[in-house]
Amino acid sequence: MSKLVELEITDLAFNGKAVAHLEGKVVFLNGGLPGEIVEAEIYRSKPRYNDARVIKIIKPSELRIPAHCSHFDICGGCTWQDLAYPEQLKFKYKQVKNCLERIGGFDDVVLHDVIGAAELFHYRNKMEFSFHVAEETGFTLGLHHRGRFDMVFDVEECFLQAPIANRLVNWMRDYVRQEQIPVYDVKNHTGYIRFLMLRVGKRTGQVMVNVVTNYGEFPNRRSFIKSLKSEFPEITTIVHNQNGQKSNIAVGESEQVLYGLGYIEEKLFHTSFRIRANSFFQTNTLQTETLYRTAFEMLDPQAGDDVLDLYCGTGSIGILLAQYVNTVVGVELVEDAVAIAWENAKANAIENITFYQGHVKDFLKSWEAENKVINTVIVDPPRAGLHPKALKELIRLHPPKILYISCNPATFARDAARLIEAGYRLPEVKPVDMFPHTMHIEVISVFYAT
Ligand SMILES: C[S@@+](CC[C@H](N)C(=O)[O-])C[C@H]1O[C@@H](n2cnc3c(N)ncnc32)[C@H](O)[C@@H]1O
Repeated sequence: MSKLVELEITDLAFNGKAVAHLEGKVVFLNGGLPGEIVEAEIYRSKPRYNDARVIKIIKPSELRIPAHCSHFDICGGCTWQDLAYPEQLKFKYKQVKNCLERIGGFDDVVLHDVIGAAELFHYRNKMEFSFHVAEETGFTLGLHHRGRFDMVFDVEECFLQAPIANRLVNWMRDYVRQEQIPVYDVKNHTGYIRFLMLRVGKRTGQVMVNVVTNYGEFPNRRSFIKSLKSEFPEITTIVHNQNGQKSNIAVGESEQVLYGLGYIEEKLFHTSFRIRANSFFQTNTLQTETLYRTAFEMLDPQAGDDVLDLYCGTGSIGILLAQYVNTVVGVELVEDAVAIAWENAKANAIENITFYQGHVKDFLKSWEAENKVINTVIVDPPRAGLHPKALKELIRLHPPKILYISCNPATFARDAARLIEAGYRLPEVKPVDMFPHTMHIEVISVFYAT
């Protein structure tokens, strides 16, 4: 049963929520900034914490700024848009520090200030918009309500991607309505159209429209392509992905290119990369350059180095690094990403790089068996961090240097503690903010074998 209370917000949590205390229990709030007094509704009470939503701000924080976006109050995307950017960076710093100290047990590592982003808006090269069955209007096309996987609101204007993305979303909503294309219903798994995914090359301006649907051909395909192209001549490729699985993710089981080459190109420094609908590519192009530049400065690669680039995605780190070292071997689980990694190496005439498809843990086992010498290992795992078996194999391999790029300071701190136990030294950690207005933060570090 919900109840109304007055709370003082004291902090921001890892999940982006505000933190307060009530009768000895922590309260996590959607909305609110440290130093504020708010009226809040407690809507869930668990044994160790409460969940609440802010109803009214009684005393606003001095850190509060007006949010840029009209959807801010409900959108799950930018939870900290009402917090001044330098303050966002301070909270991210604190998060990393907490993880290093509490999870990793580190108190002597040098933690640098967060390297902030130059661009606070329009920084993403990829966005996914969901179609959702709605009672009043039939359906919505947009982003999820904050904290709700079962509610999607109609996005009119989002400031995260290039302005063409907004025009495309609004056009697509009208088109689906006019053509009466059935929208996929996540509750009973009926209907057809599921996601609109857009990629816009920040450096190149190339535009991909990817429509993700349930199984079956796209209705009146030719007329759809013609209308879309005539309205948006900037579009360089249109793809259709079919996914009939119940899990609600915008990745296709089978893909058909409806127009263009099926990929866009994006540039990092002087190197061009092909990106397809279903393969990983860092979403903030400009800040990726900052991330990689910082990582390479810390790594200090040498011409004679032989490098393993683990969790390599479409090969961007390895392809850039291969231009300065002896050899690079990239390892990636997703087959499609490996295929593009090869394509990207070829398109950039990089010949000293090889890619393997598979699990890092399995690859490392076979690599060790072959006893090939390498000087440097790069790991850039997903949020879960290194699989325990992958970490074990890495420690067994014992390279002189490990460059660890992480999108989750908690799993980073956990893995870092294991590396220290195994005889590595960690002098410094540099956080880089890839996603302004969200709680996400990347960290970079180099471990040295002692
Ligand atoms: C954070 S991304 C890093 C991509 C790349 N380093 C970059 O900067 O573009 C993590 C990548 O790890 C891949 N991956 C996840 N689990 C894996 C595993 N067990 N073995 C190999 N690759 C994996 C994902 O498919 C994804 O491409």
